[in-house]
Amino acid sequence: MDKKVYELLNDQINKELYSAYLYMDFANYYEYEGLSGFANWYMIQAQEERDHALKFIAYLQENSQKIQLKAIDQPNKTFTDFIGPLEAALEHEKYVTSLINDIYSAAADVKDYRTMQFLEWFIEEQGEEEDTADTMVTRMKLFGGDAKALYDLDQECASRSYSAPAE
Ligand SMILES: [Fe+2]
Ligand SMILES: [Fe+2]
Repeated sequence: MDKKVYELLNDQINKELYSAYLYMDFANYYEYEGLSGFANWYMIQAQEERDHALKFIAYLQENSQKIQLKAIDQPNKTFTDFIGPLEAALEHEKYVTSLINDIYSAAADVKDYRTMQFLEWFIEEQGEEEDTADTMVTRMKLFGGDAKALYDLDQECASRSYSAPAE
């Protein structure tokens, strides 16, 4: 495997684990604030990010590459309102999309078609992630100012359950 493609794939394990850490931090914020539905939503989001990390690990292993796990950064955002984490999540997902695109273009540069094909799952996933994050922001903007509507939003987030990713 090309060295640059390898390094980007290996780094992506860390980025996905950081995403999990970040969303766990958001979950903790909401739990503390009494919105346990939003907390549930972000805890599940964190599990999905861990699953993403596992996909990169499995792919590198299938290609006989050595995994190098690195230190995970500390989430350092503080929030003053309920929309804060939702906006930060949207911004973060856009950043992750840019990382996936960078790996894809590095793989394209060296005609690594297998890696390009592997990344297609993530390209589609990032489209969904951005769409969902954007919807969360929009709905909080529309309804978050009303206590009853906020309660309903929280209840809706409480009903999200985890399911392992399809292969
Ligand atoms: Fe991810
Ligand atoms: Fe994500």
